[in-house]
Amino acid sequence: MQILDGTLVAAHIKEQLKTEVDALKSSTGKTPHLAAILVGNNPASEAYVGHKVKTCAELGFESTLLRFDTSISQRDLVNEVRKLNEDSSVDGILVQLPLPDHIEPDMIINTIDPAKDVDGFHPISQGKMMLGQPTFLPATPYGILLMLEHYNIDVAGKHCVVIGRSNIVGTPMTILLSRNGKPGNATVTLCHSRTRNLKDLTLQADVIVAAIGKPKFVTADMVREGAIVIDVGINRIDDPTKKSGSRLVGDVDFDNVAPLCSYITPVPKGVGPMTICGLMKNTLEAAKLPKPVYN
Ligand code: GUN
Repeated sequence: MQILDGTLVAAHIKEQLKTEVDALKSSTGKTPHLAAILVGNNPASEAYVGHKVKTCAELGFESTLLRFDTSISQRDLVNEVRKLNEDSSVDGILVQLPLPDHIEPDMIINTIDPAKDVDGFHPISQGKMMLGQPTFLPATPYGILLMLEHYNIDVAGKHCVVIGRSNIVGTPMTILLSRNGKPGNATVTLCHSRTRNLKDLTLQADVIVAAIGKPKFVTADMVREGAIVIDVGINRIDDPTKKSGSRLVGDVDFDNVAPLCSYITPVPKGVGPMTICGLMKNTLEAAKLPKPVYN
């Protein structure tokens, strides 16, 4: 069994990105600039956005963090996104999800200029991805592809079972794994809360991608010997043995599943750091795009 080490792969990719940023700066004077919007103070969102801003600094990107109280109206938030669209110094925009209940996430995402949609959530980005056209890929699936590439894991012809059908992970993952590309050409089954006989399907899987948001959901009896397991879950559970009283676990029961696997991602330090790499790569690409002039 080999651990797919997200921190290690991310370090390699970040070194490459630093070199590319230096080259961009010296050839064009341009510094990639990511603007992040955080509404409220959800601790997990705070941590994710904090990592993204910190990584920008590490790579020599500029970043702007705009924080708003949960009381912000949908209309005001739409206007804040529009201002970032029109700000030619901003290359990439991310709005950290989830948003408060009174704000329709689609309204906000649909407002982001697709040329700055470095999270790859806009319908134009998702549509282009589905059609195999060049676009910003959603950061987590993109990060998983980068991880597979790094370890030379070829999924062509393999049966991949994706658990969870979210717009930001599960659904795009099925499209990317099955596309005629590299990595790609897998046979994919998408499982969700209404799937019958989930275990029968996962036991047929060469690759399992768990993105369901339930701690230790994938257990050893669901995994066949030699499978590759990608764990996208980040769940905080109580743990009185820890000083903080809690710890992070994935969607996979790592301790019992890992001995069965050929490869497995841990949580933390698996997919998480790769998501940030996906975002940073998209932001660098966005910085290379010409900016429209708004009057
Ligand atoms: N919430 C959970 N994951 C993500 C992500 O990748 N991007 C944004 N914007 N919000 C998230």
